Amino acid sequence: MKYNIAVIKGDGIGDEIVTQAMKTLETVGAAYNHSFAFTPVLMGGCAIDAAGVPLPQETIDVCLKSDSVLLGAVGGPKWDTLPGNLRPEAGLLGLRSVMGLYANIRPAVLFKPLRKACPLRADIADRGFDMVIVRELTGGIYFGERGRRVTENGVEAFDTERYNEMEIRRIAKVAFETAMTRRKKLISIDKANVLESSRLWRETVHKMAEEYPQVEVSDMLVDNAAMQLVKDPSQFDVVVTSNMFGDILSDESAMITGSIGMLASASFGDSKRGLYEPIHGSAPDIAGQDKANPVATILSAAMMLKYSFGLQQECVAIENAVNAVLQTGVRTPDIKDTDTVQVAGTRQMGELICRQIGK
Ligand code: IPM
Ligand code: MG
Repeated sequence: MKYNIAVIKGDGIGDEIVTQAMKTLETVGAAYNHSFAFTPVLMGGCAIDAAGVPLPQETIDVCLKSDSVLLGAVGGPKWDTLPGNLRPEAGLLGLRSVMGLYANIRPAVLFKPLRKACPLRADIADRGFDMVIVRELTGGIYFGERGRRVTENGVEAFDTERYNEMEIRRIAKVAFETAMTRRKKLISIDKANVLESSRLWRETVHKMAEEYPQVEVSDMLVDNAAMQLVKDPSQFDVVVTSNMFGDILSDESAMITGSIGMLASASFGDSKRGLYEPIHGSAPDIAGQDKANPVATILSAAMMLKYSFGLQQECVAIENAVNAVLQTGVRTPDIKDTDTVQVAGTRQMGELICRQIGK
């Protein structure tokens, strides 16, 4: 089967990591008889430089016509002083919004070979963890009304957190369905002791729980969740939370897997067309130096195979290849542990994973 994939390399390390993910897809395609047609498009800082806007219309058109979208990362110091609506990040938020990608799935798994790279105490790391953060992606404070106004105390800036029942229901449904395919334990994270939007979130999740009697649901306040994640991450199976809390907690969950360079993500809405991207940023400090870890992007491409194309076996082939390469002690420089046998660059890491898939 042939799949059309829009490719946004973006800024910083984006080019290097996406190149390895494309190579991995081609390798899987050759092994399992699929072909992938890649259409490169611009978004983020590189689009600002080339077209004056972070999200050109052509990019939107190509993405909406494709079967799926693969993305590296956007942003960098060069564009940091632009007004908010013209920053590279506005391109990413805009794309998520026009594609209707309200659900963001961020699995955080401690790969066995990386237990010693986990910054948590050995007895906690030895328990391992395997969780999925379901983050709401097109609502909340990242999309609420914002602005500045002059007051008697100087300029005041504001951002608004708001959620309606429809938005909460549709993301909760994704989380319940995800829980049904796993250990059937769902933790909804909010700040209901302070925020009205969180209280509506909680009520709505509880109402939906009646439709999923097999799922054990509980609530956790976000400050407590930040603590529990480092105290005992093995207690989490599926987590559902708002856009901002999910953004923050997913970075924390990435760090405890050994490196932020390991975490993949899938974003989708009501159709199979998704956006697949690592959860880390564009790391301008190491861009172009063959130092970036391509694994998060490669695992994001694996998620594309599973979620958008229904190619479960091919997805597992990539995950197994990543695990096998880590098992041999090869690490990119972001991972520091005593089991490291060889430090590999971005390109070599990608090649080793591809070679493993071909075996
Ligand atoms: C992420 C990133 C983005 C977000 C930024 C780059 C806008 O941090 O995907 O987690 O906040 O969603
Ligand atoms: Mg983030």
